[in-house]
Amino acid sequence: MTVRRMQIEDYTDVYNLWLATPRMGLNDVDDSEQGINRMLQRNPTLSFIAEKDNQLVAVIIAGQDGRRGYIYHTAVHLDYRRQGIAQELIKNVLDEMKALNISKVGLFIFQDNYSGNSFWNKMGFNIRDDLYYRNHALTELERIDT
Ligand SMILES: CC(C)(COP(=O)(O)OP(=O)(O)OC[C@H]1O[C@@H](n2cnc3c(N)ncnc32)[C@H](O)[C@@H]1OP(=O)(O)O)[C@@H](O)C(=O)NCCC(=O)NCCS
Repeated sequence: MTVRRMQIEDYTDVYNLWLATPRMGLNDVDDSEQGINRMLQRNPTLSFIAEKDNQLVAVIIAGQDGRRGYIYHTAVHLDYRRQGIAQELIKNVLDEMKALNISKVGLFIFQDNYSGNSFWNKMGFNIRDDLYYRNHALTELERIDT
């Protein structure tokens, strides 16, 4: 297995993996090729993919705003789970965040994603139950359910 930074040329394979992964929380703007390209341009060192036999098997998207880092859309192909691939991707992201002097990294996850939450617990991402996530939409987004 090889892990490398995601390039926009990986977009179609990445998007197909997301489409095949239940409850990814995609939308038509941020997860379009243009949206992901913008994310990669702003954060060229923070998103990674894993490949096996030249096939994309996993992805993690991440960005930072100079204060906090955020992780999105971590997905590992069903046939390659429980092999430490996501753990390896997280390590790459956290090392790069540290190199950028980012002090905290967070993510959003559906509460009923039990396996995903078990994974993030294991990775040391704690639940903040003293906070609400508040959201104000500046543009209309169409959800893409997977
Ligand atoms: C969550 C996900 C990314 C984990 O990927 P993975 O490569 O299988 O995870 P790893 O092999 O690196 O797991 C590391 C540790 O996390 C925990 N873990 C991972 N998947 C788990 C599961 N389904 N149930 C319980 N614990 C789990 C385990 O402790 C595991 O170590 P172990 O296998 O030695 O017990 C993968 O299951 C996935 O793509 N799920 C669908 C998408 C999703 O829910 N993404 C997260 C929300 S954005």
